[in-house]
Amino acid sequence: MMQPDQVVTELPVTGWTGPFGPQIVQTAVSALEAGRVIVLPALAFAAEPAELSVLSADLLSGRRKNISLDRATGKIGGAAAVPAPLEALMRRFAFQADSLARGLLAPYGAALRAGRTSFRPAEIAGRSYSPRKDDRRLHIDAFPTRPLHGDRILRLFANIAPDGKARAWRVGEPFASLAARFLPSLPTPTAARARLYAMLGLTKGVRSGYDQLMLALHDTMKLDEAYQSRAPALPWSFPAGTTWMVFTDQVPHAAMAGHFALEQTFYLPVSAMASPETAPLRVLERLTGRVLA
Ligand code: SIN
Ligand code: FE
Repeated sequence: MMQPDQVVTELPVTGWTGPFGPQIVQTAVSALEAGRVIVLPALAFAAEPAELSVLSADLLSGRRKNISLDRATGKIGGAAAVPAPLEALMRRFAFQADSLARGLLAPYGAALRAGRTSFRPAEIAGRSYSPRKDDRRLHIDAFPTRPLHGDRILRLFANIAPDGKARAWRVGEPFASLAARFLPSLPTPTAARARLYAMLGLTKGVRSGYDQLMLALHDTMKLDEAYQSRAPALPWSFPAGTTWMVFTDQVPHAAMAGHFALEQTFYLPVSAMASPETAPLRVLERLTGRVLA
């Protein structure tokens, strides 16, 4: 059974802007890299009344789960309509999430790159998804079209549910034990297939051995019913009005219930980490005895 102190580290952060003290910064970096979720129970992202009044799952287009903001282009995707308060909410969150991450994770400096911002208004519980897309199953994050070559995926979430509903997760075992468990059943990466996918435009660039293993791990663990029902995991609830951060490529997680979350993705090269040996890339390289990116 997983213990709470293996899974989460709470930090008494009360503002979105640093500078933060050296002690809290060091704790944040080491907890994240050790595979824990950093929880900020006293940090709420405040939506304005005009924004709250437009928040609705009806903003989603069709079957989409997320509305996303591409910061580079300013484009919002996945929305049936984009009322001005929705755009304002997402932009302000993107800005504040960036400020928080840069302050709290100051040692990463400019190596930490911001990716997409998402708004997740729909209730997770009771929806139907294909097993591979069902994030209620324990998984690590791996992107099918965007090869990362070992770069880390760091995500910052804020629960802004106007009705106060908590976001319920399950958090799983350490990456090294997950990888050791599944590696024998994963296909050996092949450069030929990776080149073909890139040529066909199925991926943005060529998948490394690392990308192939991480995608296979994502799918294999999600589709393994025995693992899903018996895997070591701890239920954890994030109350409305709280914020949390986690390396989702490293920490097995399942989002079971909740609605109205905001999320900001960041990428980080392994070389910028304080303890690079904890990166999934390095763990997989040790276990396979191969260079994977
Ligand atoms: C996920 O990354 O699996 C979903 C997390 C969430 O939306 O709470
Ligand atoms: Fe995920």
